[in-house]
Amino acid sequence: MVMPKAFYITTPLYYVNAAPHIGHSYTTVAADCLARYHRLNGEPVFFLTGTDEHGQKIEQAARAAGLEPKAFTDQTAQTFHALWKTLNISYDRFIRTTDADHIRVVQRALQHLRPQLRQGPSTFFYCVPCETQWAQSDVADPHAPECPSCRRALEQVEEENFFLPLEPHRQWLKAHIDAHPAFVQPEARRNELLALLEQPLPDLCLTRPTARLSWGIEVPFSRVHVTYVWVDALLNYLTAAGYGTAAFEATWPADVHVIGKDILRHHALYWPILLHALGLPDAQMPRMIFAHGWWTIGEQKMSKSRGNIVDPNVVIADGLKDQPYAADVYRYFLLREVPFGQDGSFSEEAIRKRLETDLANDLGNLLHRTLSMIERYCHGRLPAAGPVGCAVDDAPLRDGALGLSKQLEERMARLDFSGALEAIFQLITRANRYIELQAPWQLAKAGEPARLHTVLAVLTEVIRIVAVALDPFMPSVAEAAWAQLGLGGTPRRLRDTTQWPGVTAGQPIGTRAVLFPKTS
Ligand code: MSP
Repeated sequence: MVMPKAFYITTPLYYVNAAPHIGHSYTTVAADCLARYHRLNGEPVFFLTGTDEHGQKIEQAARAAGLEPKAFTDQTAQTFHALWKTLNISYDRFIRTTDADHIRVVQRALQHLRPQLRQGPSTFFYCVPCETQWAQSDVADPHAPECPSCRRALEQVEEENFFLPLEPHRQWLKAHIDAHPAFVQPEARRNELLALLEQPLPDLCLTRPTARLSWGIEVPFSRVHVTYVWVDALLNYLTAAGYGTAAFEATWPADVHVIGKDILRHHALYWPILLHALGLPDAQMPRMIFAHGWWTIGEQKMSKSRGNIVDPNVVIADGLKDQPYAADVYRYFLLREVPFGQDGSFSEEAIRKRLETDLANDLGNLLHRTLSMIERYCHGRLPAAGPVGCAVDDAPLRDGALGLSKQLEERMARLDFSGALEAIFQLITRANRYIELQAPWQLAKAGEPARLHTVLAVLTEVIRIVAVALDPFMPSVAEAAWAQLGLGGTPRRLRDTTQWPGVTAGQPIGTRAVLFPKTS
């Protein structure tokens, strides 16, 4: 039997010169949400994240810490592992560019590219924090050269290296982008890339002399060079898919490379050209490269070098310390607050606001009110519905709930996380309004148990659907809501959101607990 190809999702490999901040957690949470969504949909998924451990910047940071680079990277890679555990990140592999299988793949790829490489002296500008090379023409003032991406001072470099000519691939890449609208997303980034492709492309330097940098993967055909860190890092996506082994086709190509917009050029220009130069056909190009925006503090991009980073561990452990599902509150905020692809300004007040309104007032109340009424009026057992009446809003609410998965499907295909959450929370709002309109407490008072049970059964079904839909975004909250409905132990699957009814009447509900306790 042929195994279906896994839906392959990647994050960038984060530099381990320092511990992770909110920006890193953003890409990873988004990729995790996508991975969980596809698993919920019954698809095999391969979700990759990891750390980028070679290069000048890491070597310098290790030296400053008084450690050997490997000991230093072992230490910082650990801080990423720990944060991903806190945030419930469901990766299938955490790759480190110091892993033995990766080193083999990089050397194999370089060997393969060798006949296409030009060796020669070169002069270029280099940004150590971005580990990126710039041509003379990229730099506005050659007397005080500044990185066009991060605006920090550039080094001028003159050295002998191996280069891959990119220009022979330019027309091919333009045609590929034209033929595959999803290849680079969102639209603004696609246009940015197409503009870059209007000019001839400079050769890409694939190596660094060991005299300048020793902390890198040895180049198999030169004793005096190591691999340029970006080439090393990009190839990780092939390593993890089993490049060169029989398993490769079951994973490759990547379905989505989730990245930040700062590394668009590397992923959407260098990467496909490297793959093309390695002989991969068009059908084996990554299917989508999605570049999201930046979290800023005020107007400034959050970054270590600007000294304005916020540590997610602090937000979760201090800012949200009163919350049993603090990590999920944080995940919700990141995915809901800003449309994926745009920049957003980070503040703890904004998280609090989302917590108090969407989570506590809307979602928390829906669950709390419904379950307390089931306890009170149905002896804590899921009620049986009588006929669902059109005249009294049951049917429109039911149809809205049954239509949710279509909305999710359409939005998640575009990585529109905030749009998907908006659809879920619109349903929650409608369900809360339904409670007000139906006023089950009055039905109880008026002695109308059949109608009362129908209303509570409709609400139970809506909550069941919401608990499934929330799973990729807030896995622990979804699990808790599921357990409170008394459904613990039954797997949550997306296809169950198109079933009505989906619960067995008469089953006892679980133990109730406030999901998002209010604090003053
Ligand atoms: N090591 C390279 C990537 C190699 S991938 C083959 C790198 N690493 S990084 O540590 O600098 O992380 C970059 C990624 O972190 C960005 O692309 C983005 O995904 C995320 N972010 C870092 N700062 C960010 C913000 N302020 N806001 C949002 N995300 C940002 O580049």
